[in-house]
Amino acid sequence: MKSILENRSNLAREVNKVAEVAGYLWQKGWAERNGGNITINITQYVDEAIRKLPAICGVNPIGATLPNLKGCYFYCKGTNRRMRDLARAPMENGSVIRICDDCASYEIIADRHVMPTSELPSHLSVHNYLIGKGSTYKASVHTHPIELVAMTHCNDFLKKDVLTKLLWSMIPETKAFCPRGLGIVPYMLPSSVELANATIKAIDDDYDVVMWEKHGVFAVGEDVIEAFDMVDTLNKSAQIYMDARCMGFVPDGMSDAQMQEISDVFHLPK
Ligand code: 13P
Ligand code: ZN
Repeated sequence: MKSILENRSNLAREVNKVAEVAGYLWQKGWAERNGGNITINITQYVDEAIRKLPAICGVNPIGATLPNLKGCYFYCKGTNRRMRDLARAPMENGSVIRICDDCASYEIIADRHVMPTSELPSHLSVHNYLIGKGSTYKASVHTHPIELVAMTHCNDFLKKDVLTKLLWSMIPETKAFCPRGLGIVPYMLPSSVELANATIKAIDDDYDVVMWEKHGVFAVGEDVIEAFDMVDTLNKSAQIYMDARCMGFVPDGMSDAQMQEISDVFHLPK
């Protein structure tokens, strides 16, 4: 069977980045069973031949109307598919979808009938928001990083920017590479449109990475590698915090002056 990636090196490169990150998520223990999902906006790599591809399945509702997605195409992890399998075979464990003209439904066009992730409402709502804002971000990643999720089981950490400041102060790189910090989305049913709306609201508050309370993170970036790196950096800080607590002390954290110095040297917004 001919794959949509054949003779399309730019598209193949982006899908292979998803496979690379899927492998990291599995290795880190953040992707139990089918846990987590990734989508990328691939519209810029879509040629006339792809536009003419017939649908493999019927029309499916997104659950929301997303006007900025008219004519857009996405690669999506398949629902119930494992990251560790996607790492080896991205087109067998994910598919390319085309948004229909009503902007409220989609059809699968390649390579095979793999239904997209159950978190599609969140992913597509965020892509719709990013396009509306004129953002160049093309990737969104949802994963279950152990230490970050553990921290959301404590109410004090859920107050605005408490986790941001704590995680920034664990190691200088965190503020430098996640300068917008970590937003918080209160617990909501996985896959729900309510969760999607709350996620956009949090991202609109100027975060690239947000926590879904007691569930996981949702991150956006120029590409999937960038989105993954931010989550990885934040989770490293969470691990340092927890290791210090396990050694029996509360970590001091960097001082305000040391944090300010990082902001000045790296020209950071906050
Ligand atoms: P999917 O298998 O549908 O992508 O769901 C995994 C998940 O993490 C839901 O939040
Ligand atoms: Zn999840």
